Amino acid sequence: MRSAPADRVRELAGPGVPLGVPPDAGVPVLQVDDLSVAYQTRRGDVTAVDGVSFDLARGEFLGIVGESGCGKSTLLFAIAQLLAPPAQVTGGCVSFKGTDLTELTERQLAAIRWKELSVVMQSAMNALNPVKSVGSQFADAMRAHGVSSKREIAQRSAEVLAMVGIDGAHLKSYPHQLSGGMRQRSMIAMALLFTPDLVIMDEPTSALDVVAQRSLMVQIKELQAELGFAIIFVTHDMSLVSHFSDRLMVMYAGQVAEFGPTRRVFDAPLHPYSVGLLDAFPSIRGPQVPLTGIPGSPPDLAKLPGGCRFAPRCQKVMPACETTAPPLYQVDDIQVRCLLQAGRGPAGD
Ligand SMILES: Nc1ncnc2c1ncn2[C@@H]1O[C@H](COP(=O)(O)OP(=O)(O)OP(=O)(O)O)[C@@H](O)[C@H]1O
Ligand code: SF4
Ligand SMILES: [Mg+2]
Repeated sequence: MRSAPADRVRELAGPGVPLGVPPDAGVPVLQVDDLSVAYQTRRGDVTAVDGVSFDLARGEFLGIVGESGCGKSTLLFAIAQLLAPPAQVTGGCVSFKGTDLTELTERQLAAIRWKELSVVMQSAMNALNPVKSVGSQFADAMRAHGVSSKREIAQRSAEVLAMVGIDGAHLKSYPHQLSGGMRQRSMIAMALLFTPDLVIMDEPTSALDVVAQRSLMVQIKELQAELGFAIIFVTHDMSLVSHFSDRLMVMYAGQVAEFGPTRRVFDAPLHPYSVGLLDAFPSIRGPQVPLTGIPGSPPDLAKLPGGCRFAPRCQKVMPACETTAPPLYQVDDIQVRCLLQAGRGPAGD
């Protein structure tokens, strides 16, 4: 299945960029700098994202993995400016095509959502409005961005549904008439109505079986190659990121534990947590070995241990780990938060 020609999609997306920033191959599509987010709870502030920094190039596919509760969704919400109380950004900034998103009004943000930056959230299965047909929700999004021709709306809506393997007849369907997997795929289709520069996806394929998941991922990669958008993709599925992401971020307890080219992290993980995560997944190509997993569970973010957050579960723990919180070290093209790398330079230098 092929998507519409890129030219036609661009034509539909219309000329110009609302932010007034011309596309520049040299400017990263996204720059996240020292971003922190806290939830205000009765037990005090819980820092769910703690000083995360990264750049994302045009057309890049970034995978983010980590156990439940490590802050993946909170990070995505903060990037997309979709956080609501009790969560709030407590530090850092998010720059999209050179513009600080935290400075934009809701109106300015609405002008770039769907068109330049699309988000498919974890609850995508239930994100569609239950009392409107899929087609009328697509039409609303297109009209909100100035596409008024009924013919164009109908044609483009059918095209994006076809891209994710759903027959255009389902534009007339209401969400309850679709399976969970079809609802997820409809949300992905909606994210591709225009030609976004960045698509943020939080476990978008979790309701699909393995075969459907693979075929949808292949379609997403094909569209990415054709249209050039960058992707941030959160998943628990290590084999998905191993096949599809260019770079991989491993998060632990709100922080970056390891970050670098996916192949490099898979071939030679440096952080003991990454090693544990990889051991917990069956090798697709290699010999069958027993899965060991990681004993214990992530720390309570309201009661973090002093020193390294992973120390209580780490097989390589040293006395210094109990008292010294490791910074991020730069090891070639990898950033890693582990005292085993002490002596290396700080990340980013
Ligand atoms: N509404 C909330 N109120 C208070 N704390 C919250 C709230 N939502 C999340 N948190 C805290 O933020 C942490 C990170 O949550 P988040 O949903 O970002 O994790 P996640 O990595 O996306 O997990 P999962 O893999 O289960 O989706 C949680 O461990 C929890 O401590
Ligand atoms: S700093 Fe110490 S406890 Fe933390 S991951 Fe490295 S070796 Fe393990
Ligand atoms: Mg999540």
